Amino acid sequence: MANNPLTRRKFIHLGTGALAATTVAKTVLQPHLLSAAARPVPPSDTIRFASIGTGIRGCEHLQASLRVPGIQCVAVCDLYDSRHSAAQESVDDPSVPATRDYRTILDRKDVDSVLIATTDHQHRRIFEDACAAGKDVYCEKPMSHTVEDGFAMVEAARKNNRMVAIGSQRVSSVLYAKAKEIYDSGKLGEVFSINAYWDRNSPSGAWVYPIPPDASEKTIDWNMFLGNAPKRAFDPVRFFRWRCFTDYGEGLAGDLFVHLISGIHFITGTNAPALRAQSSGGIYHFKDGREFPDLIETLYDYPNFRVTLRCNLNNDGGEFIGFYGTKGTMIIKDSTLTYKPQDTRPEPEGYSIFGWPKELREQYLKAWHAEHPRPAALASNVDAEEESYTTPPGYSDTVDHQANFYNAVRTRKPVVENEVFGNNAAIGCHLSNFAYFNKSVAVWDGAAKKIVKG
Ligand SMILES: NC(=O)c1ccc[n+]([C@@H]2O[C@H](COP(=O)([O-])OP(=O)(O)OC[C@H]3O[C@@H](n4cnc5c(N)ncnc54)[C@H](O)[C@@H]3O)[C@@H](O)[C@H]2O)c1
Repeated sequence: MANNPLTRRKFIHLGTGALAATTVAKTVLQPHLLSAAARPVPPSDTIRFASIGTGIRGCEHLQASLRVPGIQCVAVCDLYDSRHSAAQESVDDPSVPATRDYRTILDRKDVDSVLIATTDHQHRRIFEDACAAGKDVYCEKPMSHTVEDGFAMVEAARKNNRMVAIGSQRVSSVLYAKAKEIYDSGKLGEVFSINAYWDRNSPSGAWVYPIPPDASEKTIDWNMFLGNAPKRAFDPVRFFRWRCFTDYGEGLAGDLFVHLISGIHFITGTNAPALRAQSSGGIYHFKDGREFPDLIETLYDYPNFRVTLRCNLNNDGGEFIGFYGTKGTMIIKDSTLTYKPQDTRPEPEGYSIFGWPKELREQYLKAWHAEHPRPAALASNVDAEEESYTTPPGYSDTVDHQANFYNAVRTRKPVVENEVFGNNAAIGCHLSNFAYFNKSVAVWDGAAKKIVKG
C-alpha cells in the first residue's frame, strides 16, 4: 500500500475540484427590480435631491443617479469650484445650481434629500444639519470619523425621523443578496471563520492622486474644508489626498475595511460591532508623509466567529471575502460568488493507524464500520453541487443602493444599511485604527459607547 493513500474524501474532493474547474457555469444574476430602468415613476413621485461633495465619489453618484428612476438632481455643492462644473457635467445639465455653501441647499423647501459625499471628517456636521432641516440623507461610508460622531448622527436621524442610507453599496448588490441567501440556507453549516482582503498595487490605489493645476486658496474654501480639524496653512496634498491623514479620514480601515465589514455584517445578519480587535501593519512603501499604514491586518472577535481583514497597497490582489463553514466554503472574489460543498460524511482514521500493526488496524476498521453505517448522501452534503454566480455586464451596485434609498424615502421603510448599521460598521474601522495606533487590543465597550485598551 502507498505511504500516502488517497482517502475516499480526498478522491471525491479532487474529482469535484477538477470537474468544477471545467464545468461549473456561472449564473448571471439580475439587478433588483427597484432600479430597473423601465420602472415608470409618475412625475408627482419624483424625489428631488442635492449632492454635497462632488469630488470623485460625488460625481460617480451623480452619473449613477441618471440610471435610477424617479429622482432628479436639483443642486450641487462643493467648496472647490472646479467640482461645480464636474458635477454639472456628470448630470449632463449645466443649469443645475452650484454653491460652495451647503446651508443654502438645506434652506430650500423643494429639496427632499441630500447625498453627502464629502471627506469623512465633514460627514457629521452636514448630516446633523440636513436631518435638522428635514432632509433624508444618503451619507457615504464610513459614516463617522470618530465613535462619538457616529452616535451623534444616529441620534440626529432618530430625533428628526429621517430616512438614512450609508454608502457601502455592496449591501445592495445582487451578488451579496445571493451570498446572504446561501448563508441563511444553512448550506455552509456553522461558520466560525471569515477572512477578507482588499489589495491594490498602484499610486492611485494608494490615494496618490494628482493635484489639479487650478488648485489654490482662490478656488478652494480651505477654512471650510478644515472645519473642526486643526487649523493649518493651505496644503493641496492634504486636500486631495485626505485619506492619508488622521484629521480627515481613517486610512485603509475607513476606505476599504468598512466595505468588507458591511458586507460581512449584511451576509451574516450581524448588527453590532466586533467585541475586540487586534491590528498589525505599517508604512512599507508609500513613505510620502502619510499617517496611515499602507498595509494593515486586523483580527476581529465576534461572539460566534472570527474575522480577519487585510488591506495591502503593495499587491494587486483585488477584493475577496471567504466564509469557511463546517459544510462548505463560500467565496466572493470581485464580481464572482462561488459555493463549494464539503463531504461531511464521517471517515475512519486513515493516517495515524499506519503506526499500528495490521491486526489492530483491521480490528479498529471493523469496529469503526460497524459503528458508522453509511449516512444518506444528502444529509452529509455529498450530492450538493458547486454553485457560481456573477453580476450582469454593466451592473452597478451603486445604482441599486441609490434605488433602495429612494424607495425608503418614498415608503418610509428603512433600508438595511441605515444609520445604526452604518454606525456599527464604522466602529469596526475605529477599532482597527485604535488597535494599530495604540499597539494594543481594542475592546468595544458597548455600555460606555467607546473603545478601550484591552
Ligand atoms: N462607496 C464607495 O465606494 C466610495 C468610493 C469613494 C469614496 N467614498 C466616500 O465618499 C466620500 C468622498 O470621497 P471622494 O473620493 O469623493 O473624495 P474627494 O476628495 O474626491 O471629494 C470630496 C469632496 O468633498 C468636498 N467637501 C469637503 N467638505 C465639504 C463641505 N463642507 N461642503 C461641501 N463640499 C465639501 C471637497 O471639496 C471635495 O471636493 C468619502 O466619505 C469617501 O469615503 C465612497
